[in-house]
Amino acid sequence: MPSLTHAELRELLSRRPVILAPMEDVTDAVFRKLCRDHGADLCVTEFVNVEGLLRGCRHARRKMAIEATDHPTAVQIYGSNPERLAEAARLAEEARPAFLDVNCGCWVPKIAGRGAGAGWLKHPAAMVEMAAMIVKSTSLPVTVKTRIGVGSESDMPIVDLARRLEDVGVAAITLHCRTAEMGHSGQADWSWAGKVREAVSVPVIVNGDIKTAGDALRAIEETGCAGAMVGRAAIDHPWLFREARALIDLGVHLPPPTPAERLGLCRRHLRDNVAARQEPHGVRVTRRHLTGYLKGLPGAAALRRELLFCDSLAGCLEILDRAEARLAA
Ligand SMILES: Cc1cc2nc3c(=O)[nH]c(=O)nc-3n(C[C@H](O)[C@H](O)[C@H](O)COP(=O)(O)O)c2cc1C
Repeated sequence: MPSLTHAELRELLSRRPVILAPMEDVTDAVFRKLCRDHGADLCVTEFVNVEGLLRGCRHARRKMAIEATDHPTAVQIYGSNPERLAEAARLAEEARPAFLDVNCGCWVPKIAGRGAGAGWLKHPAAMVEMAAMIVKSTSLPVTVKTRIGVGSESDMPIVDLARRLEDVGVAAITLHCRTAEMGHSGQADWSWAGKVREAVSVPVIVNGDIKTAGDALRAIEETGCAGAMVGRAAIDHPWLFREARALIDLGVHLPPPTPAERLGLCRRHLRDNVAARQEPHGVRVTRRHLTGYLKGLPGAAALRRELLFCDSLAGCLEILDRAEARLAA
């Protein structure tokens, strides 16, 4: 699939998209497809380390690989060296992503402490220069995903920073409405996304604590943002995307997934992960999703425990079949 032009990206973002957030070890090709099938309008890869990418590391290349049907999907890169980021941006073009996203929000000390991710927020001028270099180095639209600030500032840098990023050609900004110091704790403050949206004319995407379809609608309406990005809630409940689409487009509250749909999603995710990664790895990486998928089913806790101790696909499918038979009895 060809990458998006700037105009196509704007058009996509004008439809109030609900977007699957980049999440390391979560938003691989299998999970992106699953979320897209459940209504996600746009996906972003896990972040890709530019040093690994430029060294030709297989892991980095695999993270960046995008199949023709995996569209629209953006590639996200991270690094601390502007020249290397710009070089990696050129390389990323080969994967034909929808666009290129630059991670300026990762708070994890081993990344932010080395100047990558949210480390850039400590040096706004350098962050703008880096973004300018990347924009110049590639024909792909370049977006930035960042946070409201580093920490204790009474006045967050983000509004002015967003204006400057727009000035150097950044095509859209995703705002995780927490500081870097907050990590994933505390409440995301969407009002910052509203302030940024008022300050720039490029699309702004609001992110942080969108846990239900109602949250997605409220986040978009309260902030006036172009779209909403969903992270952790999608791990447990990928149905959120179709639920949000129905609510945003039609004002309709979809009923929750049925027990059969919940069990069906467990089967599908297990099968797809095993097809992509073999046993037992494919089974093990699916486990983090199962608690959420099974939520509300009678006997869910016991069922989850049974699945946790089973490393084979056939064994897991048998457990799920027995659960389905019990529910039907
Ligand atoms: C397991 C996990 C991995 C993540 N990996 C990335 C990443 O690779 N790139 C990125 O920009 N953000 C990453 N994030 C942050 C999410 O994209 C998102 O900004 C954050 O979780 C807030 O949204 P939420 O409240 O909807 O989860 C990650 C979050 C989690 C929970």
